[in-house]
Amino acid sequence: MYWFLVFLHVISAVFLGSFLALPFTIQSLAARTEDKLKMSVNTILYFTRFGHYALILLFLSGGGMVIGYGSYPSMLWVTLSTIILIVIGGLMGVISKRMKLMKHTESLEEALQENLPKLKILSWVTFVLIIIAVFIMTNRQLFS
Ligand code: HEM
Repeated sequence: MYWFLVFLHVISAVFLGSFLALPFTIQSLAARTEDKLKMSVNTILYFTRFGHYALILLFLSGGGMVIGYGSYPSMLWVTLSTIILIVIGGLMGVISKRMKLMKHTESLEEALQENLPKLKILSWVTFVLIIIAVFIMTNRQLFS
């Protein structure tokens, strides 16, 4: 069963890793006009939904390994990774909320211009946090 939890955990991490492309995708929105822009925003919204599923699976599989098998170097490691996971979830939530609001405005292009600076910051922070989470996960000895 442990092998399955590790498998699930790493697959979810790989999926979450696709969000490393988010800042670049958001940057490319600026070059799109109405219809293509709407399609891209919809695609990002799908991704953020599946990103949330990946985070839930990461939490459940990680929690399963920690609780069921005591596989963790320290409580600091568990706490840090859990906090980062929650913050990534929150950031994705804010990004998708902004995108949904943008979709319901009259001019998506104008709404994008207003929201682009914040979306860029949010997606870069998400990018950095994913890297930090993987660093914490793969350097257990630093936290024992
Ligand atoms: C954004 C959040 C997370 C990411 C991207 C992530 C990613 C990873 C990756 C890539 C590994 C494989 C590392 C290796 O085998 O060297 C791993 C291992 C592990 N993770 Fe996470 N993880 C996250 C959150 C969590 C959380 C919240 C927990 C527990 C509460 C957790 C528990 C574990 C455990 C116990 C292992 C060890 C598996 C083994 O036996 O090798 N992870 N994680």
